[in-house]
Amino acid sequence: MNTKSKVLTLLEDNQGKYISGEEIADALGLSRASVWKVIRELQAGGHRIAAATNKGYMLEASDDVLTAEGILKNLARDSKLTKIICLDSVDSTNNYAKKIALEGAAHGTLITADVQTAGRGRHGHTFESPANTGLYMTLILRPKIEISKFQMITIADAVAVCLAIEELYEGARGKIFIKWVNDIYFEGKKITGILTEAVTNFESGEIESVVTGIGINIATKNFTPAAGDKAGSIFDDDGDRVFTRNKLCARVADHIMNFAEDLNAPGLIAAYRERSLLTGKDITYMKDERKYSAHAEGIDDSGGLIVLNEHNEREILRSGEVSLIRN
Ligand code: BTN
Repeated sequence: MNTKSKVLTLLEDNQGKYISGEEIADALGLSRASVWKVIRELQAGGHRIAAATNKGYMLEASDDVLTAEGILKNLARDSKLTKIICLDSVDSTNNYAKKIALEGAAHGTLITADVQTAGRGRHGHTFESPANTGLYMTLILRPKIEISKFQMITIADAVAVCLAIEELYEGARGKIFIKWVNDIYFEGKKITGILTEAVTNFESGEIESVVTGIGINIATKNFTPAAGDKAGSIFDDDGDRVFTRNKLCARVADHIMNFAEDLNAPGLIAAYRERSLLTGKDITYMKDERKYSAHAEGIDDSGGLIVLNEHNEREILRSGEVSLIRN
């Protein structure tokens, strides 16, 4: 760890509290002048550090700069992530991931960005990705599974996001739901979207890896009308945040990498079922350009949605959009 990381770690361990320049200097074997120099560098890098005479320095509670070091520090000891790339701004972390996947990036490479200028959602939608308020991350995976099982990656992502939020935020426990197949809802609003894409080698025509991108609205506000009234955030305000993006990102990535070891593990689908928003509800879905009403009965072992439709036919939906009928 370099000096800057050491100072940041000490400030993070005391986030929201002042720590004197002398204490930092003594703890890290630095001069007070070097401490001050490092603090200025951290501030220039976007960190919110208050400095007050006779009190010292305080990393403000709202400080939340996404960095490779910050993510690394929060990973499990036996983390299976292999590389972390944190970008300030990019069109889409999925686009970036696809490019480097084709150049050979390894299984377990993580790409994050503070801002996405052209964040993508499913079905050609835009994913609004403003700075500082959301977590935009993509993992490159080279899983040993058949193409037909790709849906399990999305299932793993959805469960990973739920587990990570529940672990870090008590107020969300029991209140986070997955709307089949991969939208995460909290207090009636969509707070997370997932976009999993196969990367095909143009020469061989074979699928050589998968990029799976996750966008989590942590304290995003003022969604455009295009996002509709269903978009929401975990927290109403910046100041309400009880975890950093680094922590959330590390937890989500670790859970996904663990699930990726065995996408058929029964615990994964069980955890998905427990949080299924649609089970037991009336829904509508589209098939062959026709709209059907149905009752959602549950999730099958490979992540399909089991429905009993208006013609009393039981079907398993594998993809597509479904809507909840509000009674
Ligand atoms: C959806 O809700 O339709 C899926 C949204 C997926 C958004 C994430 S943000 C990180 C990654 N990069 C993108 O451009 N999209 C995904």
